[in-house]
Amino acid sequence: MLVRSVYAKKLKNSRGEETIEVIVKTEKGVVNASAPFGKSRGIHEANAFVENVEHDVRIINALDVRVLDIKHRLDIIYVEKKLRGKIGANSMLALQLALLKALAKKQGCELWQLFTRRFKPVRMLGNVIGGGMHSSARKPEFQEFLFSPRTRHMGKAVLINKKVYSIARSLLKKYDPRFKGKKNDENAWETTLNNEQVLEIANLVREKVKERYGENVDIGIDIAASTFYDKRSKKYVYENVKLRKQEQINFVARLAKKFSLLYLEDPLHEEDFDGFAILRKKLKKILVVGDDLTVTNTERLKKAIKKKAISGIIVKPNQIGSLIASEEVVELAKRHGIAVIVSHRSGETLETGIADLAIGWHADFVKFGVAGKEREVKLKRLIEIEKKAGV
Ligand code: PGA
Ligand code: ZN
Repeated sequence: MLVRSVYAKKLKNSRGEETIEVIVKTEKGVVNASAPFGKSRGIHEANAFVENVEHDVRIINALDVRVLDIKHRLDIIYVEKKLRGKIGANSMLALQLALLKALAKKQGCELWQLFTRRFKPVRMLGNVIGGGMHSSARKPEFQEFLFSPRTRHMGKAVLINKKVYSIARSLLKKYDPRFKGKKNDENAWETTLNNEQVLEIANLVREKVKERYGENVDIGIDIAASTFYDKRSKKYVYENVKLRKQEQINFVARLAKKFSLLYLEDPLHEEDFDGFAILRKKLKKILVVGDDLTVTNTERLKKAIKKKAISGIIVKPNQIGSLIASEEVVELAKRHGIAVIVSHRSGETLETGIADLAIGWHADFVKFGVAGKEREVKLKRLIEIEKKAGV
């Protein structure tokens, strides 16, 4: 029997919200796993808990451990079938992750090696300047200004992004008269500048990194457009202007070209597959990425494929509450040449399993942030995997 006992409890995430941790005892030792919590959540995401966290904790603590006896990673499907509808997405994720860690321990391998034997590094995307729902002033409207060092050496990429983070701070200090060195939910710098001004700063950061260190970094943005889209007027509401769909498309396309962006996440609201398709066609060289649009959901990904809406997809296992379904999304995306970006959430825990999943699934990118202990443990785990793989 893999599991001797299972125990669930409440845990506070980096934003102080209640989430869940699952602890599994095995004959080889104890493993634990926890689930994060998003704030700019898609309306099509699964519910984190059935009623509340206490309810799910009670259900898990009353489980007969024989239900959890898995021999292969895909066996978690039986656990899922037994518990579907009885616990929420966060609880299912924490439970499945804990079981896979237990299985890896039993088999004497790393968690990521349950999925593949071949190590393939990922590129880093780090949130350096932030806005939207993750920032106290909810400004600028775009949620994340991301940097991606143009290297697949993960240890090097982490170091470069640390430099990016500190250069961004000094440039914000210089150009934003109201900058106070404040960090948002993901520890990205908060600023009072507007979207285009922040992109100007990002561009300067890119130039400085090249000049000082000879390194190339690309810029990306997560617009998280649903968070400032007004459904009644069908307009994107900015501080000084309201944009209709076509105007939003033109605005975003102009910025993407002007700043030669690598990456563009959720440029339109979460129902606008057609708008995404227009942008993807206009911006052939840029990754047009679905997050709230696709919510790690196979059916929504199929729709996006049919409509040619995206060239990249965010994978967040707790959006769907199943590691099996998340893996299905990864495989389907790959078969259609869609880049896979495995992502943390804004409210995070010290969980590192997401790093193993990204490597195990052969993701193209990870979006784990840059600073703060919840983000740093994941980056450290990537470096540890890279070192052990002998790279
Ligand atoms: P969330 O946002 O974790 O707050 O949902 C992250 C994102 O939109 O990528
Ligand atoms: Zn997003």
